[in-house]
Amino acid sequence: MTGERRDAVSRPARKGIVLAGGYGSRLFPLTFGVSKQLMPIYDKPLIYYPIATQIMAGVREILFITTPEDRAAFQRLLGDGSQWGMAFSYAVQDHPRGLADAYRIGRSFLNGAPSVLILGDNIFFGHGLQALLDEAAGQPGATVFASMVSDPSRFGVVEIDAAQRPVTIEEKPVAPRSRWAITGLYFMDGRACDIADEVEPSARGEIEIVSVLQRYLDENSLSVERLHRGFAWLDAGTHESLHQAGEFVKTLQNRQGLLVSSPEELAYRHGLISLDGLAELADRQKQSSYGAALADLVAHEQGNG
Ligand code: DAU
Repeated sequence: MTGERRDAVSRPARKGIVLAGGYGSRLFPLTFGVSKQLMPIYDKPLIYYPIATQIMAGVREILFITTPEDRAAFQRLLGDGSQWGMAFSYAVQDHPRGLADAYRIGRSFLNGAPSVLILGDNIFFGHGLQALLDEAAGQPGATVFASMVSDPSRFGVVEIDAAQRPVTIEEKPVAPRSRWAITGLYFMDGRACDIADEVEPSARGEIEIVSVLQRYLDENSLSVERLHRGFAWLDAGTHESLHQAGEFVKTLQNRQGLLVSSPEELAYRHGLISLDGLAELADRQKQSSYGAALADLVAHEQGNG
């Protein structure tokens, strides 16, 4: 058996978790009736954007973690994933216990596999994203993605040394040691669930993701990928950022005539569905501009566009 084949046999595929629970309290009254992650970002639901990132990360099986009340709505929207050549399953979080709770809830789903966790309100868009995700997928241990921000105290913060290695990580520090925010996208190896089980709740009563990351940092197996200048990382947690994200997508799509973070397009480009499959998905939605954009893509791929 060659080294390559042995590797393929022994290394399980990365599985995805989209954490889409929480109360969305910073979006009240919008979120009294509808989950934040189902809100529109211009022409598609917010949850489509993290799904697009998962597809790009090479994930084919995703567990969606939602509140008990919202689970049915997510299932109605996303189904079993087969329409996009994927496999979706669902679990509930009855109380927002912290981001690392995703690894406790997701233990049987992950079943020891390495994972990609993304927060359901995080949007990533920019040139070079695919290369960054490919690099992270090949790294051992855990990888976080850092973005330069003007107000680091609102985020998890990573301090990075001259060799681009992480030195410290802190959740919402009062006196941040850098302006590198840790984004809501985390690659972890198969040990994440065991580590999350051992984490004690923080002073604010949450099972913190930084506590899990700290374990990887302590053993020198935490990597940082930096998102470069001009790269868009948005979270849609407030009225202002929700609106801005929609404006951003609208401007980009109308200017370029290309869809931003369409799961249908990405499923096609990653070989999960055929061109006929894409045409069917476009046809089902042909009354909307989103469906029309998918139909344009089909025509282009057929050589008629
Ligand atoms: O967006 C990136 C930031 O996300 C990181 O820089 C921080 O390190 C990380 O803690 C997180 O900060 P937030 O203040 O955005 O976390 P928040 O509690 O708002 O949760 C983020 C999303 O995850 C939110 O859409 C709801 C969902 N969530 C959160 C918790 C705590 C859950 O589904 N379950 C939970 O238990």
